[in-house]
Amino acid sequence: MSANKESWGSRVGLILAMAGNAVGLGNFLRFPVQAVQNGGGAFIIPYLVCFFVMGIPLLFIEWSMGRFGGKYGYHSTPFIVDTMGKSRFWKYIGVFGIWTNIAVAAYYCYIESWTLSYVFHSIIGTFSGLDQDGVSNFFGEYVSLGVSTLGVPYEPIVFYILCLLLNTWILSQGLASGVERVAKIGMPMLILFGAFLAFKGFTITAGENGAINDSSVGLNFLWTPNFDQLWSPTVWLAAAGQIFFTLSVGMGTVQCYASYVRAKDDVALNAMSAGWMNEFVEVVLGSSILIPISIGYLGIDRVTELVQSGGLGLGFRALPYLFYQWGDFLGAFSGVMWFGLLFFAGITSSLAMGTPWIGFLMDEFNWRRKPAAWSFGVVVFVLGMPTVLFFKYGVFDEYDHWAGTVSLVVFALLETILFSWVFGIRKGWQEIISGADIQVPNIYKFIIKFITPILLLWVFLGSLFTPKGNDWSAALSGNWILDNSSIINRLANTSLKKQLAAATDPSQIEFLQDQ
Ligand code: PHE
Ligand code: NA
Repeated sequence: MSANKESWGSRVGLILAMAGNAVGLGNFLRFPVQAVQNGGGAFIIPYLVCFFVMGIPLLFIEWSMGRFGGKYGYHSTPFIVDTMGKSRFWKYIGVFGIWTNIAVAAYYCYIESWTLSYVFHSIIGTFSGLDQDGVSNFFGEYVSLGVSTLGVPYEPIVFYILCLLLNTWILSQGLASGVERVAKIGMPMLILFGAFLAFKGFTITAGENGAINDSSVGLNFLWTPNFDQLWSPTVWLAAAGQIFFTLSVGMGTVQCYASYVRAKDDVALNAMSAGWMNEFVEVVLGSSILIPISIGYLGIDRVTELVQSGGLGLGFRALPYLFYQWGDFLGAFSGVMWFGLLFFAGITSSLAMGTPWIGFLMDEFNWRRKPAAWSFGVVVFVLGMPTVLFFKYGVFDEYDHWAGTVSLVVFALLETILFSWVFGIRKGWQEIISGADIQVPNIYKFIIKFITPILLLWVFLGSLFTPKGNDWSAALSGNWILDNSSIINRLANTSLKKQLAAATDPSQIEFLQDQ
Protein backbone atom coordinates (compact mmCIF):
# COMPACT_ATOMS: atom_id res chain seq x y z
CA MET A 1 0.00 0.00 0.00
CA SER A 2 1.23 3.46 -0.67
CA ALA A 3 0.42 7.08 -0.19
CA ASN A 4 0.12 7.48 -3.95
CA LYS A 5 -3.47 8.70 -4.22
CA GLU A 6 -3.37 10.37 -7.59
CA SER A 7 -6.16 9.97 -10.10
CA TRP A 8 -7.27 11.27 -13.49
CA GLY A 9 -8.80 14.72 -13.66
CA SER A 10 -11.74 13.87 -15.91
CA ARG A 11 -13.16 11.12 -18.04
CA VAL A 12 -12.35 12.91 -21.27
CA GLY A 13 -8.82 13.40 -20.00
CA LEU A 14 -8.49 9.72 -19.15
CA ILE A 15 -9.73 8.61 -22.56
CA LEU A 16 -7.46 11.05 -24.36
CA ALA A 17 -4.49 9.96 -22.26
CA MET A 18 -5.23 6.29 -23.02
CA ALA A 19 -5.77 7.05 -26.68
CA GLY A 20 -2.53 9.04 -26.61
CA ASN A 21 -0.82 6.04 -25.08
CA ALA A 22 -2.02 3.85 -27.94
CA VAL A 23 -1.75 6.31 -30.81
CA GLY A 24 1.92 6.59 -31.54
CA LEU A 25 4.69 6.30 -34.06
CA GLY A 26 3.35 2.80 -34.66
CA ASN A 27 0.21 4.18 -36.31
CA PHE A 28 2.00 6.35 -38.85
CA LEU A 29 5.34 4.66 -39.45
CA ARG A 30 4.99 1.01 -38.47
CA PHE A 31 1.46 0.15 -39.66
CA PRO A 32 1.82 1.28 -43.29
CA VAL A 33 5.20 -0.35 -43.58
CA GLN A 34 3.98 -3.65 -42.11
CA ALA A 35 1.08 -3.57 -44.55
CA VAL A 36 3.37 -3.04 -47.55
CA GLN A 37 5.89 -5.65 -46.39
CA ASN A 38 3.10 -8.18 -46.01
CA GLY A 39 1.57 -7.76 -49.41
CA GLY A 40 -0.76 -4.76 -49.01
CA GLY A 41 -4.31 -6.07 -49.13
CA ALA A 42 -3.23 -9.47 -47.79
CA PHE A 43 -2.45 -7.87 -44.46
CA ILE A 44 -5.70 -6.17 -43.70
CA ILE A 45 -7.96 -9.18 -43.02
CA PRO A 46 -5.63 -10.85 -40.50
CA TYR A 47 -5.08 -7.42 -38.98
CA LEU A 48 -8.78 -6.83 -38.36
CA VAL A 49 -9.36 -10.37 -37.11
CA CYS A 50 -6.48 -9.95 -34.65
CA PHE A 51 -8.01 -6.69 -33.47
CA PHE A 52 -11.29 -8.39 -32.61
CA VAL A 53 -10.01 -11.62 -31.05
CA MET A 54 -6.80 -10.47 -29.40
CA GLY A 55 -6.79 -6.68 -29.27
CA ILE A 56 -10.21 -6.03 -27.78
CA PRO A 57 -10.02 -8.93 -25.27
CA LEU A 58 -6.61 -7.76 -24.09
CA LEU A 59 -7.92 -4.23 -23.66
CA PHE A 60 -10.76 -5.56 -21.47
CA ILE A 61 -8.33 -7.70 -19.50
CA GLU A 62 -5.74 -5.00 -18.95
CA TRP A 63 -8.15 -2.20 -18.09
CA SER A 64 -9.99 -4.32 -15.54
CA MET A 65 -6.76 -5.72 -14.08
CA GLY A 66 -5.47 -2.19 -13.65
CA ARG A 67 -8.57 -0.88 -11.91
CA PHE A 68 -8.59 -4.01 -9.71
CA GLY A 69 -4.97 -3.50 -8.59
CA GLY A 70 -5.59 0.20 -8.12
CA LYS A 71 -8.21 -0.58 -5.48
CA TYR A 72 -5.39 -2.02 -3.40
CA GLY A 73 -3.21 1.00 -4.03
CA TYR A 74 -0.98 -0.58 -6.69
CA HIS A 75 0.12 1.16 -9.87
CA SER A 76 2.55 -1.19 -11.58
CA THR A 77 2.17 -4.72 -12.91
CA PRO A 78 4.31 -6.72 -10.43
CA PHE A 79 1.94 -5.82 -7.63
CA ILE A 80 -1.22 -5.67 -9.70
CA VAL A 81 -0.75 -9.26 -10.89
CA ASP A 82 0.24 -10.24 -7.35
CA THR A 83 -3.25 -9.29 -6.16
CA MET A 84 -4.74 -11.71 -8.71
CA GLY A 85 -2.62 -14.85 -8.48
CA LYS A 86 -1.49 -16.55 -5.29
CA SER A 87 1.92 -17.79 -6.36
CA ARG A 88 4.98 -15.53 -6.17
CA PHE A 89 5.67 -16.54 -9.76
CA TRP A 90 3.21 -13.93 -11.03
CA LYS A 91 4.94 -11.13 -9.23
CA TYR A 92 8.15 -11.84 -11.11
CA ILE A 93 6.26 -12.07 -14.37
CA GLY A 94 4.85 -8.65 -13.60
CA VAL A 95 8.35 -7.20 -13.76
CA PHE A 96 8.06 -7.54 -17.54
CA GLY A 97 5.52 -4.74 -17.33
CA ILE A 98 8.17 -2.34 -16.07
CA TRP A 99 11.27 -3.37 -17.98
CA THR A 100 9.62 -3.72 -21.35
CA ASN A 101 8.55 -0.12 -21.07
CA ILE A 102 12.01 1.08 -20.22
CA ALA A 103 13.60 -0.89 -23.04
CA VAL A 104 11.02 0.23 -25.60
CA ALA A 105 11.29 3.81 -24.35
CA ALA A 106 15.04 3.69 -24.96
CA TYR A 107 14.68 3.37 -28.73
CA TYR A 108 11.25 4.93 -29.05
CA CYS A 109 12.41 8.21 -27.53
CA TYR A 110 15.28 8.27 -29.98
CA ILE A 111 12.89 8.29 -32.95
CA GLU A 112 10.74 10.76 -31.09
CA SER A 113 13.79 13.03 -30.90
CA TRP A 114 14.25 12.75 -34.67
CA THR A 115 10.75 14.10 -35.15
CA LEU A 116 11.59 17.07 -32.93
CA SER A 117 14.72 17.74 -34.90
CA TYR A 118 12.90 17.35 -38.23
CA VAL A 119 10.29 19.92 -37.16
CA PHE A 120 13.17 22.27 -36.49
CA HIS A 121 14.77 21.51 -39.86
CA SER A 122 11.46 21.96 -41.69
CA ILE A 123 11.11 25.38 -40.10
CA ILE A 124 14.64 26.56 -40.87
CA GLY A 125 14.30 25.27 -44.44
CA THR A 126 17.00 22.58 -44.44
CA PHE A 127 15.09 20.46 -46.96
CA SER A 128 14.17 23.22 -49.36
CA GLY A 129 16.20 22.99 -52.52
CA LEU A 130 17.54 19.50 -51.73
CA ASP A 131 16.86 16.79 -54.27
CA GLN A 132 15.65 13.36 -53.29
CA ASP A 133 19.13 12.01 -52.72
CA GLY A 134 19.98 15.08 -50.71
CA VAL A 135 17.09 14.49 -48.30
CA SER A 136 17.88 10.81 -48.08
CA ASN A 137 21.55 11.49 -47.41
CA PHE A 138 20.66 13.94 -44.71
CA PHE A 139 18.90 11.12 -42.88
CA GLY A 140 21.91 8.84 -43.33
CA GLU A 141 24.18 11.51 -41.94
CA TYR A 142 21.79 12.18 -39.11
CA VAL A 143 21.76 8.61 -37.84
CA SER A 144 25.55 8.51 -38.23
CA LEU A 145 25.54 11.51 -35.85
CA GLY A 146 27.22 13.62 -38.52
CA VAL A 147 24.68 16.45 -38.65
CA SER A 148 25.54 19.64 -36.85
CA THR A 149 23.43 22.74 -37.36
CA LEU A 150 24.31 26.18 -36.05
CA GLY A 151 27.69 24.79 -35.02
CA VAL A 152 26.29 22.36 -32.46
CA PRO A 153 28.14 19.05 -32.78
CA TYR A 154 26.40 15.72 -32.30
CA GLU A 155 23.05 17.34 -32.92
CA PRO A 156 21.10 14.03 -32.74
CA ILE A 157 22.39 13.44 -29.22
CA VAL A 158 21.45 16.97 -28.23
CA PHE A 159 17.91 16.41 -29.49
CA TYR A 160 17.76 13.04 -27.76
CA ILE A 161 18.63 14.67 -24.46
CA LEU A 162 16.16 17.50 -25.08
CA CYS A 163 13.44 14.99 -25.80
CA LEU A 164 14.16 13.04 -22.62
CA LEU A 165 14.24 16.23 -20.56
CA LEU A 166 10.85 17.17 -21.93
CA ASN A 167 9.40 13.75 -21.09
CA THR A 168 10.90 13.82 -17.63
CA TRP A 169 9.64 17.29 -16.91
CA ILE A 170 6.07 16.48 -17.98
CA LEU A 171 6.09 13.26 -15.96
CA SER A 172 7.32 15.14 -12.91
CA GLN A 173 4.26 17.43 -13.12
CA GLY A 174 1.96 14.56 -12.22
CA LEU A 175 -0.78 12.58 -13.83
CA ALA A 176 -3.58 15.11 -14.21
CA SER A 177 -1.47 18.22 -14.61
CA GLY A 178 1.28 16.62 -16.70
CA VAL A 179 0.32 13.58 -18.73
CA GLU A 180 -3.38 14.35 -19.03
CA ARG A 181 -2.84 17.95 -20.00
CA VAL A 182 -0.40 17.03 -22.75
CA ALA A 183 -2.87 14.48 -24.12
CA LYS A 184 -5.63 17.08 -24.16
CA ILE A 185 -3.49 19.38 -26.28
CA GLY A 186 -1.59 16.81 -28.31
CA MET A 187 -4.41 14.55 -29.46
CA PRO A 188 -6.58 17.24 -31.08
CA MET A 189 -3.52 18.76 -32.75
CA LEU A 190 -2.53 15.36 -34.06
CA ILE A 191 -5.97 14.78 -35.55
CA LEU A 192 -5.93 18.23 -37.12
CA PHE A 193 -2.46 17.80 -38.67
CA GLY A 194 -3.37 14.27 -39.75
CA ALA A 195 -6.58 15.42 -41.42
CA PHE A 196 -4.68 18.04 -43.39
CA LEU A 197 -2.06 15.56 -44.59
CA ALA A 198 -4.65 12.86 -45.33
CA PHE A 199 -6.50 15.40 -47.46
CA LYS A 200 -3.29 16.07 -49.39
CA GLY A 201 -2.75 12.33 -49.65
CA PHE A 202 -6.26 11.79 -51.02
CA THR A 203 -6.03 14.46 -53.67
CA ILE A 204 -2.84 13.53 -55.49
CA THR A 205 -3.44 13.51 -59.23
CA ALA A 206 -1.11 11.91 -61.74
CA GLY A 207 0.60 14.52 -63.85
CA GLU A 208 0.16 17.32 -61.32
CA ASN A 209 3.19 18.61 -59.43
CA GLY A 210 5.26 15.72 -60.70
CA ALA A 211 3.03 12.95 -59.37
CA ILE A 212 3.11 9.78 -61.46
CA ASN A 213 0.08 8.09 -59.87
CA ASP A 214 -3.31 9.14 -58.54
CA SER A 215 -3.78 8.72 -54.82
CA SER A 216 -6.07 5.79 -55.60
CA VAL A 217 -3.07 3.68 -56.64
CA GLY A 218 -1.62 3.65 -53.14
CA LEU A 219 -4.99 3.33 -51.43
CA ASN A 220 -6.04 0.42 -53.63
CA PHE A 221 -2.73 -1.25 -53.00
CA LEU A 222 -3.42 -1.18 -49.25
CA TRP A 223 -7.13 -1.83 -49.32
CA THR A 224 -7.89 -4.27 -52.12
CA PRO A 225 -8.12 -7.61 -50.33
CA ASN A 226 -5.63 -10.06 -51.68
CA PHE A 227 -6.55 -13.57 -50.66
CA ASP A 228 -3.39 -15.26 -51.97
CA GLN A 229 -1.48 -14.99 -48.76
CA LEU A 230 -4.42 -15.12 -46.41
CA TRP A 231 -3.20 -18.38 -44.87
CA SER A 232 0.43 -17.42 -44.52
CA PRO A 233 1.39 -17.65 -40.82
CA THR A 234 4.02 -14.99 -41.41
CA VAL A 235 1.36 -12.49 -42.36
CA TRP A 236 -0.68 -13.48 -39.32
CA LEU A 237 2.29 -13.09 -37.00
CA ALA A 238 3.01 -9.68 -38.42
CA ALA A 239 -0.64 -8.66 -38.04
CA ALA A 240 -0.76 -9.85 -34.45
CA GLY A 241 2.51 -8.08 -33.70
CA GLN A 242 1.16 -4.84 -35.10
CA ILE A 243 -2.06 -5.11 -33.08
CA PHE A 244 -0.04 -5.55 -29.88
CA PHE A 245 2.31 -2.74 -30.59
CA THR A 246 -0.32 -0.29 -31.73
CA LEU A 247 -2.75 -0.88 -28.86
CA SER A 248 0.15 -0.86 -26.35
CA VAL A 249 -1.04 -4.17 -24.90
CA GLY A 250 1.31 -6.67 -23.31
CA MET A 251 3.35 -3.78 -21.99
CA GLY A 252 1.95 -2.86 -18.59
CA THR A 253 1.11 0.71 -19.56
CA VAL A 254 -2.62 0.14 -19.95
CA GLN A 255 -2.84 -1.52 -16.51
CA CYS A 256 -0.85 1.31 -15.04
CA TYR A 257 -3.05 4.06 -16.49
CA ALA A 258 -6.19 2.11 -15.53
CA SER A 259 -4.99 1.70 -11.95
CA TYR A 260 -5.70 5.39 -11.46
CA VAL A 261 -9.37 4.90 -12.41
CA ARG A 262 -11.72 5.04 -9.42
CA ALA A 263 -13.08 1.70 -8.23
CA LYS A 264 -16.68 2.40 -9.22
CA ASP A 265 -15.96 3.91 -12.61
CA ASP A 266 -16.46 2.22 -15.97
CA VAL A 267 -13.66 0.39 -17.75
CA ALA A 268 -15.53 -1.35 -20.59
CA LEU A 269 -16.68 1.71 -22.52
CA ASN A 270 -13.47 3.56 -21.78
CA ALA A 271 -11.43 0.67 -23.15
CA MET A 272 -13.51 0.62 -26.32
CA SER A 273 -13.33 4.39 -26.81
CA ALA A 274 -9.56 4.53 -26.53
CA GLY A 275 -9.06 1.34 -28.56
CA TRP A 276 -11.33 2.42 -31.41
CA MET A 277 -9.80 5.86 -31.46
CA ASN A 278 -6.45 4.20 -32.04
CA GLU A 279 -7.89 2.12 -34.87
CA PHE A 280 -9.43 5.16 -36.49
CA VAL A 281 -6.13 6.99 -36.41
CA GLU A 282 -4.25 3.94 -37.68
CA VAL A 283 -6.58 2.67 -40.36
CA VAL A 284 -7.88 6.00 -41.63
CA LEU A 285 -5.13 8.56 -41.01
CA GLY A 286 -2.19 6.14 -40.82
CA SER A 287 -2.94 4.65 -44.20
CA SER A 288 -3.75 7.92 -45.97
CA ILE A 289 -0.44 9.71 -45.63
CA LEU A 290 2.85 7.85 -45.96
CA ILE A 291 1.84 5.27 -48.55
CA PRO A 292 -0.43 7.20 -50.93
CA ILE A 293 2.00 10.12 -51.04
CA SER A 294 5.09 7.97 -51.56
CA ILE A 295 3.40 5.74 -54.12
CA GLY A 296 1.93 8.78 -55.84
CA TYR A 297 5.39 10.16 -56.52
CA LEU A 298 7.61 7.09 -56.52
CA GLY A 299 5.39 4.23 -57.67
CA ILE A 300 4.60 0.91 -56.01
CA ASP A 301 7.81 -0.86 -57.00
CA ARG A 302 10.14 1.80 -55.70
CA VAL A 303 8.21 2.13 -52.44
CA THR A 304 8.16 -1.63 -51.91
CA GLU A 305 11.89 -1.66 -52.48
CA LEU A 306 12.49 1.20 -50.03
CA VAL A 307 10.32 -0.47 -47.43
CA GLN A 308 12.08 -3.83 -47.71
CA SER A 309 15.36 -2.22 -46.78
CA GLY A 310 14.00 -0.94 -43.48
CA GLY A 311 10.72 0.89 -43.48
CA LEU A 312 11.43 3.33 -40.73
CA GLY A 313 13.40 5.60 -42.98
CA LEU A 314 10.61 6.17 -45.51
CA GLY A 315 8.88 8.86 -43.47
CA PHE A 316 12.18 10.67 -42.95
CA ARG A 317 13.99 9.88 -46.19
CA ALA A 318 11.24 10.45 -48.72
CA LEU A 319 8.44 12.64 -47.38
CA PRO A 320 10.39 15.85 -46.64
CA TYR A 321 11.43 15.86 -50.29
CA LEU A 322 8.03 14.85 -51.69
CA PHE A 323 6.29 17.65 -49.75
CA TYR A 324 8.28 20.20 -51.72
CA GLN A 325 6.53 19.08 -54.89
CA TRP A 326 3.64 21.18 -53.60
CA GLY A 327 5.71 24.32 -53.61
CA ASP A 328 8.09 25.96 -51.16
CA PHE A 329 5.56 27.14 -48.66
CA LEU A 330 3.48 23.94 -48.54
CA GLY A 331 6.70 21.95 -48.51
CA ALA A 332 7.90 23.51 -45.28
CA PHE A 333 4.39 23.68 -43.83
CA SER A 334 3.66 20.01 -44.50
CA GLY A 335 6.99 19.05 -43.00
CA VAL A 336 6.04 20.82 -39.79
CA MET A 337 2.62 19.12 -39.85
CA TRP A 338 4.05 15.65 -40.48
CA PHE A 339 6.87 15.72 -37.96
CA GLY A 340 4.74 17.68 -35.50
CA LEU A 341 2.08 15.00 -35.76
CA LEU A 342 4.70 12.31 -35.22
CA PHE A 343 6.04 14.20 -32.24
CA PHE A 344 2.63 14.46 -30.54
CA ALA A 345 1.95 10.80 -31.32
CA GLY A 346 5.34 9.86 -29.90
CA ILE A 347 5.37 11.88 -26.72
CA THR A 348 1.91 10.84 -25.53
CA SER A 349 3.18 7.24 -25.87
CA SER A 350 6.58 7.67 -24.24
CA LEU A 351 4.91 9.36 -21.28
CA ALA A 352 2.87 6.18 -20.89
CA MET A 353 6.05 4.12 -20.88
CA GLY A 354 7.42 6.18 -18.00
CA THR A 355 4.38 5.89 -15.78
CA PRO A 356 4.76 2.24 -14.58
CA TRP A 357 8.34 2.86 -13.43
CA ILE A 358 7.27 5.95 -11.52
CA GLY A 359 4.25 4.19 -10.00
CA PHE A 360 6.48 1.33 -8.88
CA LEU A 361 9.00 3.56 -7.14
CA MET A 362 6.29 5.66 -5.50
CA ASP A 363 4.27 2.67 -4.28
CA GLU A 364 7.05 0.44 -3.06
CA PHE A 365 9.84 2.74 -2.02
CA ASN A 366 7.81 5.80 -1.16
CA TRP A 367 9.71 7.91 -3.66
CA ARG A 368 8.28 11.28 -4.45
CA ARG A 369 7.13 11.85 -8.02
CA LYS A 370 9.86 14.25 -9.05
CA PRO A 371 12.89 12.09 -8.27
CA ALA A 372 11.02 9.07 -9.65
CA ALA A 373 10.45 10.92 -12.92
CA TRP A 374 14.07 12.02 -13.15
CA SER A 375 15.29 8.51 -12.51
CA PHE A 376 13.22 7.39 -15.50
CA GLY A 377 14.98 9.96 -17.68
CA VAL A 378 18.40 8.82 -16.51
CA VAL A 379 17.73 5.10 -16.92
CA VAL A 380 16.29 5.57 -20.41
CA PHE A 381 19.26 7.71 -21.38
CA VAL A 382 21.75 5.07 -20.28
CA LEU A 383 19.86 2.25 -21.97
CA GLY A 384 19.18 4.34 -25.06
CA MET A 385 22.72 5.46 -25.79
CA PRO A 386 23.69 2.17 -27.45
CA THR A 387 20.88 2.60 -29.97
CA VAL A 388 22.00 6.17 -30.62
CA LEU A 389 25.70 5.40 -30.97
CA PHE A 390 25.39 2.11 -32.82
CA PHE A 391 22.20 2.75 -34.74
CA LYS A 392 23.61 1.66 -38.05
CA TYR A 393 24.83 -1.66 -36.71
CA GLY A 394 21.30 -2.84 -36.03
CA VAL A 395 21.21 -2.29 -32.26
CA PHE A 396 17.92 -0.55 -32.77
CA ASP A 397 16.31 -3.57 -34.46
CA GLU A 398 17.59 -5.80 -31.72
CA TYR A 399 15.81 -3.70 -29.08
CA ASP A 400 12.65 -3.61 -31.16
CA HIS A 401 12.70 -7.36 -31.61
CA TRP A 402 13.20 -8.35 -27.98
CA ALA A 403 11.46 -5.56 -26.14
CA GLY A 404 8.98 -4.37 -28.75
CA THR A 405 7.82 -7.72 -30.09
CA VAL A 406 8.79 -10.89 -28.23
CA SER A 407 8.19 -9.75 -24.68
CA LEU A 408 4.80 -8.22 -25.51
CA VAL A 409 3.57 -11.57 -26.74
CA VAL A 410 5.00 -13.47 -23.77
CA PHE A 411 3.54 -11.08 -21.24
CA ALA A 412 0.15 -10.95 -22.96
CA LEU A 413 -0.02 -14.75 -23.05
CA LEU A 414 0.82 -15.07 -19.36
CA GLU A 415 -1.54 -12.35 -18.19
CA THR A 416 -4.39 -13.87 -20.18
CA ILE A 417 -3.78 -17.22 -18.50
CA LEU A 418 -3.65 -15.48 -15.14
CA PHE A 419 -6.87 -13.61 -15.80
CA SER A 420 -8.96 -16.41 -17.31
CA TRP A 421 -7.61 -19.49 -15.58
CA VAL A 422 -5.91 -18.51 -12.32
CA PHE A 423 -7.95 -15.54 -11.17
CA GLY A 424 -10.76 -17.25 -13.07
CA ILE A 425 -13.00 -16.03 -15.87
CA ARG A 426 -16.02 -15.83 -13.55
CA LYS A 427 -14.40 -13.24 -11.33
CA GLY A 428 -12.61 -11.73 -14.29
CA TRP A 429 -15.83 -11.20 -16.23
CA GLN A 430 -17.34 -9.58 -13.15
CA GLU A 431 -14.44 -7.12 -13.10
CA ILE A 432 -15.00 -6.24 -16.75
CA ILE A 433 -18.72 -5.61 -16.48
CA SER A 434 -18.82 -3.97 -13.07
CA GLY A 435 -19.58 -0.28 -13.46
CA ALA A 436 -19.69 -0.75 -17.23
CA ASP A 437 -21.46 1.89 -19.28
CA ILE A 438 -22.00 -0.53 -22.17
CA GLN A 439 -23.32 -4.05 -22.45
CA VAL A 440 -20.24 -6.15 -23.18
CA PRO A 441 -21.23 -8.92 -25.64
CA ASN A 442 -21.30 -12.26 -23.81
CA ILE A 443 -19.36 -13.90 -26.59
CA TYR A 444 -16.28 -12.15 -25.20
CA LYS A 445 -16.44 -14.32 -22.11
CA PHE A 446 -15.82 -17.33 -24.31
CA ILE A 447 -13.25 -15.55 -26.47
CA ILE A 448 -11.24 -14.37 -23.47
CA LYS A 449 -11.25 -17.80 -21.89
CA PHE A 450 -10.37 -19.92 -24.93
CA ILE A 451 -9.71 -18.11 -28.18
CA THR A 452 -7.37 -15.38 -27.01
CA PRO A 453 -4.98 -17.67 -25.07
CA ILE A 454 -4.88 -20.24 -27.88
CA LEU A 455 -4.11 -17.61 -30.50
CA LEU A 456 -1.47 -16.05 -28.28
CA LEU A 457 0.14 -19.43 -27.79
CA TRP A 458 0.14 -19.96 -31.53
CA VAL A 459 1.73 -16.57 -32.17
CA PHE A 460 4.36 -17.25 -29.54
CA LEU A 461 5.24 -20.73 -30.82
CA GLY A 462 5.23 -19.46 -34.38
CA SER A 463 7.88 -16.89 -33.60
CA LEU A 464 9.86 -19.37 -31.53
CA PHE A 465 10.08 -21.90 -34.33
CA THR A 466 9.90 -19.77 -37.48
CA PRO A 467 11.03 -22.02 -40.35
CA LYS A 468 13.83 -21.10 -42.70
CA GLY A 469 12.93 -18.38 -45.16
CA ASN A 470 9.52 -18.26 -43.51
CA ASP A 471 8.54 -21.14 -45.75
CA TRP A 472 5.81 -22.73 -43.69
CA SER A 473 4.54 -25.09 -46.35
CA ALA A 474 7.96 -26.76 -46.64
CA ALA A 475 8.23 -26.86 -42.86
CA LEU A 476 4.83 -28.39 -42.39
CA SER A 477 5.61 -31.11 -44.88
CA GLY A 478 8.47 -32.24 -42.67
CA ASN A 479 11.45 -30.12 -43.67
CA TRP A 480 11.70 -27.94 -40.59
CA ILE A 481 14.89 -25.87 -40.44
CA LEU A 482 14.80 -22.84 -38.17
CA ASP A 483 15.12 -19.43 -39.74
CA ASN A 484 17.68 -16.97 -38.40
CA SER A 485 14.80 -14.77 -37.38
CA SER A 486 13.29 -17.41 -35.07
CA ILE A 487 13.61 -16.60 -31.40
CA ILE A 488 15.59 -19.76 -30.78
CA ASN A 489 18.20 -18.95 -33.40
CA ARG A 490 18.39 -15.35 -32.37
CA LEU A 491 19.05 -16.39 -28.80
CA ALA A 492 21.74 -18.81 -29.86
CA ASN A 493 23.53 -16.41 -32.12
CA THR A 494 22.34 -12.86 -31.81
CA SER A 495 22.78 -10.79 -34.89
CA LEU A 496 23.83 -7.96 -32.59
CA LYS A 497 26.93 -9.87 -31.58
CA LYS A 498 27.78 -10.47 -35.22
CA GLN A 499 27.19 -6.90 -36.23
CA LEU A 500 29.32 -5.50 -33.44
CA ALA A 501 32.10 -7.94 -34.27
CA ALA A 502 31.86 -6.84 -37.87
CA ALA A 503 32.04 -3.24 -36.74
CA THR A 504 35.67 -3.66 -35.77
CA ASP A 505 36.50 -4.76 -39.31
CA PRO A 506 36.80 -1.64 -41.52
CA SER A 507 35.65 -3.37 -44.70
CA GLN A 508 32.50 -4.43 -42.87
CA ILE A 509 31.81 -0.91 -41.71
CA GLU A 510 31.56 0.29 -45.28
CA PHE A 511 29.36 -2.64 -46.11
CA LEU A 512 27.02 -1.82 -43.24
CA GLN A 513 26.92 1.84 -44.14
CA ASP A 514 25.77 0.98 -47.60
CA GLN A 515 22.76 -0.82 -46.19
N1 PHE B 1 1.16 2.05 -29.13
C1 PHE B 1 2.29 2.88 -29.40
C2 PHE B 1 2.42 3.11 -30.89
O1 PHE B 1 1.60 2.73 -31.66
C3 PHE B 1 3.56 2.30 -28.88
C4 PHE B 1 3.54 1.95 -27.44
C5 PHE B 1 3.86 0.69 -27.04
C6 PHE B 1 3.20 2.90 -26.47
C7 PHE B 1 3.83 0.39 -25.72
C8 PHE B 1 3.17 2.58 -25.14
C9 PHE B 1 3.50 1.32 -24.75
O2 PHE B 1 3.35 3.71 -31.34
NA1 NA C 1 -0.88 2.82 -31.86
